[in-house]
Amino acid sequence: MQIIEDMQTLRAALKSSPGVALVPTMGNLHEGHLALIGRARQEGRPVAASIFVNRLQFGPREDFNTYPRTLQRDCDMLKKAGCDLVFAPGEAAFYPAPQTFRVEPDPALADLLEGEFRPGFFGGVCTVVMKLFCALQPAAAVFGKKDYQQLRIVQRMVEQFALPIEIIAHDTIRAPDGLALSSRNGYLNAAERDEASRLHRTLLWMAGRLAAGETLDAVEREGAAQLRAHGWQPDYLTLRRRTDLSRTFARGEPLVALGAARLGSTRLIDSVEV
Ligand code: PAF
Repeated sequence: MQIIEDMQTLRAALKSSPGVALVPTMGNLHEGHLALIGRARQEGRPVAASIFVNRLQFGPREDFNTYPRTLQRDCDMLKKAGCDLVFAPGEAAFYPAPQTFRVEPDPALADLLEGEFRPGFFGGVCTVVMKLFCALQPAAAVFGKKDYQQLRIVQRMVEQFALPIEIIAHDTIRAPDGLALSSRNGYLNAAERDEASRLHRTLLWMAGRLAAGETLDAVEREGAAQLRAHGWQPDYLTLRRRTDLSRTFARGEPLVALGAARLGSTRLIDSVEV
């Protein structure tokens, strides 16, 4: 497995392995990421992972400086999982000058849910993903469904810019109690870890109540109240139409339940297609 830290070496390496299947990450890998690598391998192409903690998608009060950087361990895991190439640029290699040209995602998709609580987040994600796509020129890229809004926005970006890249959506990998695997789970203390799977259970419960005929307003209110009663501070808990995350949908349309809530000082997000 080749580990590459600069654009020039990357370009040279891609000449002998064009059309990679890419798994973009911010490192601190877990089984969820390895499942994405496994899915990428099914494409029958060279598999590349990127590891880059992208400053542009962190707000001023977020955890950019403390986000765990575990490059050696990540590379060991990727090698075992069958990855062929890791692109892990430092900031100076990836953003040699301030990144003043940005991708601006459609506000109808990007200013709601995560975007409401993390202004500028999806602009930062789209800019780095577009730049990774330019650098690695993948034929396919795999994204997890836990970050459902991110997945939808990247799919729409690829459509709108007519990028010749297949976006592959992969199911969320969960711990046995249902907690979605996430790098940020490592911030939870033991008591919080025991509590954390309630987010997933609440989303499933909300989907059940909606299917049983309750209004979306009532379901959202009750879901949030349940989490608050157990010490959480919810940002949003809702059900949306899968295709465009619209809050207006007809009975029987495929939906996704999405939620974000803080437990102690850790903000967790989850989503479940229902
Ligand atoms: O989902 C992530 O880990 C990040 O948002 C991504 C897609 C790697 C962009 O920095």
